[in-house]
Amino acid sequence: MGTGEISRVAERLSRDQKVFVITGAGISAESGVPTFRGAGGYWRNFRAEDLASPEGFARDPLMVWEWYTERRRNLLEVDPNLGHHAIAALERRVGAFLLATQNVDGLHQRAGSERMETVHGDIWATRCLECGDRHRELGLIHESLPPRCERCGGMLRPDVVWFGEYLPPEPLGRIDEFLRTSPGVDVTLCIGTTAMFGYIQAWALGTQAGGAMLVEINPDVTPLSAHADVCLRGPSGELLPRLMEMAFPSE
Ligand code: OAD
Repeated sequence: MGTGEISRVAERLSRDQKVFVITGAGISAESGVPTFRGAGGYWRNFRAEDLASPEGFARDPLMVWEWYTERRRNLLEVDPNLGHHAIAALERRVGAFLLATQNVDGLHQRAGSERMETVHGDIWATRCLECGDRHRELGLIHESLPPRCERCGGMLRPDVVWFGEYLPPEPLGRIDEFLRTSPGVDVTLCIGTTAMFGYIQAWALGTQAGGAMLVEINPDVTPLSAHADVCLRGPSGELLPRLMEMAFPSE
């Protein structure tokens, strides 16, 4: 990657733009959170698809809860990295901004992001399979698994979106509104995601068709790479602070 490409993106970002950011597990990799499909993406030889699905949970709720509990414990040990902080800073520098994250880890919020939608839910939230009661408690590690509803005793599930499930309508509606409202998006940054899902591709390519510069930030090639206007190859925790410094040099 030459300096030319990153400065092209920095130059676009610096012109008080409407910016849309999509993130995936890769943005949190440098915080020490394993990605789903990379090395370390397996857990006890199971793939994410086998654990994060209604079928996986029906087959073995205890095992799925052990996976989520281990992930919760890990998250108590980690902090947002420079990539999360750069995205929160970008939000404060441009006129119109929205972050759509597939991550459930809460690290964007901890870095200060506010204009954001969590399209796959929140790892600290649960939903009762019997009465539907929803509950969120940051930092809670259940002592007995699978955990039970305090109201009705029903089994709880993580209140996250699993493979084969619909996305929650409220965040989707707000993302659609942001993308539909004039003016159109000027820059779309797609960061640390394999972009496997149709809706991620549709958001990225849809904004590009409307005139946005589509930028991928990822050390590896993804299905989106061939369509991106610029691919910045490298870890987001290094590239994003560099991009911010070039777009908005400190006085
Ligand atoms: P993946 O694990 O599929 O992809 C992580 C991406 O991050 C890969 O493309 C890596 O190349 C990239 N990456 C790794 N290290 C990076 C770094 N330091 N900086 C930037 N990029 C880096 O994760 P997602 O695309 O987020 O869904 O996966 C999407 C969804 O699939 C998840 O939300 C989850 C998962 O199963 C559900 O649970 C429904």
